[in-house]
Amino acid sequence: MLLGTQRVNAQGRLEIGGCDTVALAQEFGTPLYVVDEAELRARCRAYAAAFADRYPRNRIHYASKALLNLAVARIIAQEGLCLDTASYGELFTALRARFPAARINLHGSNKLAPEIELAVRRRIGHITLDNFGEIQLVADAAAAQQRPVRVLVRVAPGVDPDTHRFISTGQADTKFGFNILDGSAMEAVRRALASPALRFDGIHFHVGSQLLDTVSHEEAISAAVDLMAQIRATTGALCHELNIGGGLGVRYLSTHEPPSLETYAERITGALRSALARHGLPMPVLAQEPGRSLVAEAGTTLYTVGAIKTVPTLTAPGSRTYASIDGGLSDNPRPQLYEAVYEVIAANKADRPHDRTLAIAGRHCETDVLIWDASAPELEPGDTLAVQTTGAYNAAMASNYNKFLRPAMVLVGDDRADLIVERETPADLVRHDCVPARLKAGART
Ligand SMILES: Cc1ncc(COP(=O)(O)O)c(C=O)c1O
Repeated sequence: MLLGTQRVNAQGRLEIGGCDTVALAQEFGTPLYVVDEAELRARCRAYAAAFADRYPRNRIHYASKALLNLAVARIIAQEGLCLDTASYGELFTALRARFPAARINLHGSNKLAPEIELAVRRRIGHITLDNFGEIQLVADAAAAQQRPVRVLVRVAPGVDPDTHRFISTGQADTKFGFNILDGSAMEAVRRALASPALRFDGIHFHVGSQLLDTVSHEEAISAAVDLMAQIRATTGALCHELNIGGGLGVRYLSTHEPPSLETYAERITGALRSALARHGLPMPVLAQEPGRSLVAEAGTTLYTVGAIKTVPTLTAPGSRTYASIDGGLSDNPRPQLYEAVYEVIAANKADRPHDRTLAIAGRHCETDVLIWDASAPELEPGDTLAVQTTGAYNAAMASNYNKFLRPAMVLVGDDRADLIVERETPADLVRHDCVPARLKAGART
């Protein structure tokens, strides 16, 4: 499958944004994260258009946890989207990119005082409350700054989505938000309403990620609107906003068929309208926080193939060939975290038939196999391998395991490539280490 602006050029090489990926690998080194600017912008626009056509009172927050750096924040700002942050670091990065504060929201299941203080001081759009202790923390920060803070109450709608359990969040047994079923959500709303320092705006849920249908979103919308009706009946308060989180899935494999943005928008707005009609409620602002579905398919990671070995297996077909790449777990932990799957293109042989099945192995001291059964042409050391759909939760989750250097990132489009994140240097690896004086002397040689 070719995604976004990917195409195979006359030399049989993979191009993205008009840039030859083999040349990118030579110029910037590998592993290299490549972001397809046109695809990212197109997804932002298509998402906004799909909802604007069907439900004008809507707002889209890009979930910055998927991928955030100064350049990406600028693109999201230029596209007119809002920004969802979930930590001091994400909020700091957004503000450093001059993202308009009023368009930022703050999440977190255990927010710390400094991030709440920063959010309140910089007057971000709203804070989403996640637990009872935090209601007081936010109210105290708001009182200290002498300005009320807009809040949403995050609820667990009791919906179990069809996805890996490590990326499910909407079920009742979750660390996120206030449970609707046991009455905690209603109690949190009461407390928020009672606090003069808080302005209660509505409720939020996020059911899970990489969802390939809309069933759990529709169920959660129904449960959330039931709660909105209960809130109005018992307190008289209206929810001005309903935030349905993110979660729409993407194509990691050619066989993945997530709903189109039009179908998704049609089902979501249909479910919302019918739930509101059931209770005679006015239309709230429909807010969302897509991350993966905006950025995943805009990302490709380039690697260089190194060692190749074929080993016997106990089961058919009797042997397995491992093609090792110059990255792995540290630049993409998702296969280890939740059995994520990917497809590859041999960037320098993109016109050859995929007539082999290979394991694409990382080079860490772990069994960090990125893809167990990759379909590919015959690979040789020195080939450039492009792993697709790596825009979301790859760079964002990268680490320095084995003291690997975190890769560079380039933004490609209109035949040009711009560095947007520099590759780390060996000096970066020890930049924060400190050696106490008593360890400086007396080393044995
Ligand atoms: C609260 C919240 N909103 C939005 C998202 C983004 O989800 P996705 O990237 O699946 O769209 C997440 C993902 O974990 C989340 O926890």
